[in-house]
Amino acid sequence: QSCPATKAGKLNVHLVPHTHDDVGWLKTVDQYFYGSRNEIQHAGVQYILDSVVSQLQSDPTKRFIYVEIAFFYRWWRMQTDQIKQTVKQLVNEAPFKGRLEFINGGWCMNDEASTHYNSIIDQMTLGFQFLQYNFGDCGRPRVAWHIDPFGHSREHASLFAQMGFDGFFFGRLDYQDKRAREMQKEMEQLWRGSVNLEPPFADLFTGVLPNGYNPPSSLCWDGSCSDPPIMDDKDLEDYNVDQIVKYFISIAHAQAGVYRTNHIIMTMGSDFQYENANLWYKNMDKLIKHVNAQQSNGSNVNVLYSTPSCYLSELNKANLTWSVKTDDFFPYADGPHQFWTGYFTSRPALKRYERMSNNFLQVCNQLEVLAGSKSREGPFGKADSFTLKEAMAVAQHHDAVSGTEKQHVADDYAKRLAAGWSRCQVLVSNALASLSGIKQNVHFCNYLNVSACRLTEAASNFTVVLYNPLPRRVTWNVRLPMNGTSYTVTDPKGKTVPNKVMQVSAFTKQVRQDKGSAVNELVFQAAAPALGFSTYSVSRLTEDSLWRRLAQRAQKTQLGDSLQLQNEYYKVTFDSDTGLVSQIENLHKGINLPITQNFYWYNASIGDAKSSQASGAYIFRPDSFNPLLISKTAKTYVVKTRIIKKKKKKKKKKKWQDNVVNISNSDRLAGTPSYLSTAPCRDRWGKEIISRFKTPLQTNATFYTDANGREILQRRRDYRATWKLEQTEPVAGNYYPVNSRIYIKDGKQQLTVLTDRSQGGSSIMDGSFELMLHRRLLYDDHRGVDEPLSEPGDYNVGLVVRGKHILFLDTVDASADLHRPQAQQEFMSPQIVLSTGQQYPYWMGLKSVKEFSALAEELPRNVHLLTLAQWDAKSVLIRLEHQFEKGESTNYSQPVTVDLMKLFSHFMVTSLVEMSLGANEKKDAMKRMAWRVTEDQEPVEPRFSSGRESISAITLKPMEIRTFLATIQYLYS
Ligand SMILES: *[C@@H]1O[C@H](CO)[C@@H](O)[C@H](O)[C@H]1NC(C)=O
Ligand SMILES: *[C@@H]1O[C@H](CO)[C@@H](O)[C@H](O)[C@H]1NC(C)=O
Ligand SMILES: *[C@@H]1O[C@H](CO)[C@@H](O)[C@H](O)[C@H]1NC(C)=O
Ligand SMILES: [Zn+2]
Repeated sequence: QSCPATKAGKLNVHLVPHTHDDVGWLKTVDQYFYGSRNEIQHAGVQYILDSVVSQLQSDPTKRFIYVEIAFFYRWWRMQTDQIKQTVKQLVNEAPFKGRLEFINGGWCMNDEASTHYNSIIDQMTLGFQFLQYNFGDCGRPRVAWHIDPFGHSREHASLFAQMGFDGFFFGRLDYQDKRAREMQKEMEQLWRGSVNLEPPFADLFTGVLPNGYNPPSSLCWDGSCSDPPIMDDKDLEDYNVDQIVKYFISIAHAQAGVYRTNHIIMTMGSDFQYENANLWYKNMDKLIKHVNAQQSNGSNVNVLYSTPSCYLSELNKANLTWSVKTDDFFPYADGPHQFWTGYFTSRPALKRYERMSNNFLQVCNQLEVLAGSKSREGPFGKADSFTLKEAMAVAQHHDAVSGTEKQHVADDYAKRLAAGWSRCQVLVSNALASLSGIKQNVHFCNYLNVSACRLTEAASNFTVVLYNPLPRRVTWNVRLPMNGTSYTVTDPKGKTVPNKVMQVSAFTKQVRQDKGSAVNELVFQAAAPALGFSTYSVSRLTEDSLWRRLAQRAQKTQLGDSLQLQNEYYKVTFDSDTGLVSQIENLHKGINLPITQNFYWYNASIGDAKSSQASGAYIFRPDSFNPLLISKTAKTYVVKTRIIKKKKKKKKKKKWQDNVVNISNSDRLAGTPSYLSTAPCRDRWGKEIISRFKTPLQTNATFYTDANGREILQRRRDYRATWKLEQTEPVAGNYYPVNSRIYIKDGKQQLTVLTDRSQGGSSIMDGSFELMLHRRLLYDDHRGVDEPLSEPGDYNVGLVVRGKHILFLDTVDASADLHRPQAQQEFMSPQIVLSTGQQYPYWMGLKSVKEFSALAEELPRNVHLLTLAQWDAKSVLIRLEHQFEKGESTNYSQPVTVDLMKLFSHFMVTSLVEMSLGANEKKDAMKRMAWRVTEDQEPVEPRFSSGRESISAITLKPMEIRTFLATIQYLYS
């Protein structure tokens, strides 16, 4: 409503004053905020906001947009009430209204390749919540703005559309794509974000910005630039108005030549600019004055201060028919041989920690709701979920989880997450104390991945609480580091459950070094009810008699004639010469597939005759099409217990790859190969390590990858859907982000791998696919980070990364039935909390509670409880998600109805309002711009029917997420 006036019949140039403030990159987020460590990069966000606010007060025509709420929140907390009042006026009150506009409005401008949808939604919601609380409806961003992320995901467009954005602008796309779009005037079009949601619900108007996010060349007037200012006094030397006006009018016309309306946008600003806003505004004032003065001489160029949403609104009014895009903007190349596909894998440990932190944050959020205020203040002290929410939101930034930051900044992201974990660990302890009666010595083992945990090693008895955040019962193999050789484990009902003690592998010992000393691992299978926990007791048996030791010890045999692992569902066969997997058979489906898996490394290019581009944190560039095999053979032995069958492959030659294939009795997976990967760099080669699976499947250059953990996109080797690709990198140019899964299939069989973090992946040859596990490089790739990606790790021998790939072989029709729920179980896996000492009855009568579920009944297999979190003092945020796509499962791709009234047994939902995905607007109040996509059809405005259907019948269609704010009443005091 408060957009500036434009002139019909003129070419209107919308100048958008903006700053791009990275939430950590070369400096940490707080260093950027204060402007410390300016010797690394001159940047101080607090001064930017100070300076801009005072400029905006003085002039009604000036505009500014602000994007990154992580910074704005830091600044806001330090302002006086008077300044806060002024800022509110600039956003919301006549005559100042609209001078400051929030755009995008997430906590950060998140990466789109390595981020998981759960965390994208959370980080956007956190920013929105701040804006809504402080600025009301006028603070609600209308336009999404990802001017710097390195490629754009279709799923992300869909999420933005569901958040209610009217449009989306970005800066980076493949250089060939941009050239083609300029020629075809397709810089702006409608992006169809989903093949599941009915148009126009996931449609998002999307514009490519003309100059990335920078000003046109020679027109940068920030203190950090060296372009000449506008010198407009004829009595002084160097008068340059005529020259600048002429130049500006010519570039405006050139730009208008590749866009479709008589409105064009120019981003006036860049990284951390506007520290002294007067420089920019003074020169833009003059530019506007002098260029517009030419109108009296017949110029049709009209320049004005504007914002992306005011520009968008003019495009909408233009009433044109726009073309529709249905694929995505990956991978991104900014020139020949320059594919930004390395960052899909860069910093694999940070990527895993970020994913685990999401898991723990969801547990923390859920328990905060289940135990209410007792979780925030209880026997273990004061706690909060905000610290981890904030750290997770910061970690979504496009130089955070992406792995493209300096090492000290990566360390800072991890430190923030760790601080969030400790606050949430107190919260979880308080909540479990309240719900179960555990009162003493709660302990979290943060080093289970290297079999280290002081408590389980030393204690002779303890309890294991297994909390399950999923809305369905799970069984889980609990593995705990131990020093004894013989234990009894009892389930919540006091029944003994089978357990095994196995030796900690030599490789684990080598990796953990001084982090632990356990010699054994106790393994047992535990079950935990939906959205709840169960408690198992473990006691060490007095020093074992010989017979018991013999009975308990796992059999360890060389893999001789029995070259197979088998459970009810699968048979995995190993090659007797190489020790590698040679065949997988799905016994239920009667299908089998010869398969080999092995580790290879690409030798990182350091630049060559074709291009000086080296592989680096952003860019993947192998020096050859053929990766090198790390080891041809594996020494294999089998550890068979009643619980786990395990095959270990020991690489003979090089010690830097290790592989363990697990197959559990109950698993419907063809095994969960774990890998351990380090990339020694003492020689002179940078290494990019992959795991490659080869099969005889006829795949016709086609493979499939997920987008942000949700919808699957089909990929074709050496092909782009919207332009004729000139491929310059046959490997790197075919890499795509894999957030949770990759698969290949023929007409009948499908081989799927689930990953435990984001990785780059591809299918370089038919029948095969590969995932990049780790990278260690010797050179910088010249995209600004100015450090080679060479993570030394704690012991300075190269960071070691341990991970897991879950492999499925099934029919094409039935594969989603397995990989959809299993993927949710991986990112929402049960959490183990340990406790020594008695369990005291804490509140629930006399008995302690050993098994608890907050649900009256489990949710159907196709429904995911995406969010259950405290929203404010009064209400709770609930998101339900249909986790299947249309047509991917006979059983589960159907609409499903959930009764929220009857869902929870622990509390009652007393009122419910349906919200937009970001929870900043009631769903029935949502309004989005309508865009015409076919000539003869009026544009359809998305109609958001309210959540007026009763809370006892909430229907979810495939891939639909529905968001609610609820008030609840606990059923127990
Ligand atoms: C928009 O354009 C269509 C023709 O493409 C025309 O029928 C319609 O009246 C126009 N609407 C407005 C509001 O100008
Ligand atoms: C476990 O055993 C190892 C090796 O014997 C020993 O070094 C370590 O101190 C023991 N740990 C505990 C907690 O007793
Ligand atoms: C558990 O261990 C503690 C000390 O480690 C001991 O005092 C207690 O009796 C043990 N309880 C049982 C049931 O074994
Ligand atoms: Zn950036």
